[in-house]
Amino acid sequence: MNTKLLIKNIKSLVQVREPNFLKVSGAGMKVLPCIENAWMAIDNGIIADYGSMEDFPGIEDWKGIEIIDCEGKLILPCYADSHTHIVYAGNREGEFVDRINGLSYEEIFERGGGILNSAKKLSEASEDELFEQAMVRLKEVISQGTGSIEIKSGYGLSVESELKMLRVIKRIKDLNILPVKATFLGAHALPLEFKNDKEGYINLIVNEMLPIIAAEKLADFIDVFCEQNYFTYEETKQILEAGKKHGLMAKVHAEQLSHFGGIKAGVECGAISVDHLEFCDDTDIALLKQSNTMATVLPGAAFFLSLPLPPARKMIDAGLPIAFASDFNPGSCPSGNMNFMMSLGCVQYKLTPEEVINACTINSAYAMNASHEVGSITIGKKANFFITKPISSYGFIPYSYGSNLIESVYLSGVKQ
Ligand code: NIG
Ligand code: FE
Repeated sequence: MNTKLLIKNIKSLVQVREPNFLKVSGAGMKVLPCIENAWMAIDNGIIADYGSMEDFPGIEDWKGIEIIDCEGKLILPCYADSHTHIVYAGNREGEFVDRINGLSYEEIFERGGGILNSAKKLSEASEDELFEQAMVRLKEVISQGTGSIEIKSGYGLSVESELKMLRVIKRIKDLNILPVKATFLGAHALPLEFKNDKEGYINLIVNEMLPIIAAEKLADFIDVFCEQNYFTYEETKQILEAGKKHGLMAKVHAEQLSHFGGIKAGVECGAISVDHLEFCDDTDIALLKQSNTMATVLPGAAFFLSLPLPPARKMIDAGLPIAFASDFNPGSCPSGNMNFMMSLGCVQYKLTPEEVINACTINSAYAMNASHEVGSITIGKKANFFITKPISSYGFIPYSYGSNLIESVYLSGVKQ
């Protein structure tokens, strides 16, 4: 189906970039190019053209084509959510209450909860059940403006269950609703069967899981949770290098609960992103400055676990690019609402609306190696965008936290 669409009277067309503009760093993040009173044309699911209403194309060229009037409304590129764990079974509401009553995230894990709780639930769920549950979450985040997504494994922790998760992700990818990137996160935690044999589990990841995943093309990235009681700096590097040999780009869960060397490991392995960063220090900032690795902050997880805030303001002021992602998962962030991530960015991290929109679109698209196809309003990119309700400006989105200001979402030019 060739979707042709002409949108007119757009109050502001936000995040308009030239092709080959793949990320924005430092002071550049305060700049958000827009066209006021604009039009945009979509052809075959792709952004075909745009401009100011003063140069609105002759309507006779567009006979029989759907025309949408966007009077008073803004258009933004969809959010790119570069870090999620939306394939999981059930929920961890009980642990939420345990934390309210005083237990820490680490204490819950040490008692066999946390990631291991999700692993147990996942082992008992069928592939179809996991798919159905993930689709409910996917549809919800699409309605909240997400138009490309990275999804991790990591609640399997056995050959069978990791493959089950990755096959569910592949099923979602093959629906072709939106760009989906798959990440193999076998090194998310040590499963109980390997409690006293970490080396054995790493060997399982490297020698058994990775070859099958690569042969079946089940993943784009490899990720490791580099943290005390999870995987060390050396183990992280070993696993990332093994993944790279199979063509997987590296990502790291880094410095979330302590300063543990995840950023260093990631930068040294040429990671496309290092994520979390609560305990990122000045040495890490210097390392990141020398790299092409995207520093990714997950404001929802820091909020939900009441962690110290990553130094996002300091990193941008040091000239770094910053991306935001949701980390949607049952333990540390049971929400994938990127609008809320932007509000947290403004309120808690003192980022401007321009900076958080850049962090949630072009930079997070870069963090999932997708900024050549999504993340901005650019001729030739996928027509994945949303139309807001009538609002005063883009700053109204993070300002009105908790309100839904999205009127409609289009993926490949098709209204969802
Ligand atoms: O990104 N930090 C490690 N992993 C996930 C949380 C996993 C869980 O608690 O289920 C995260 O926060
Ligand atoms: Fe995560």
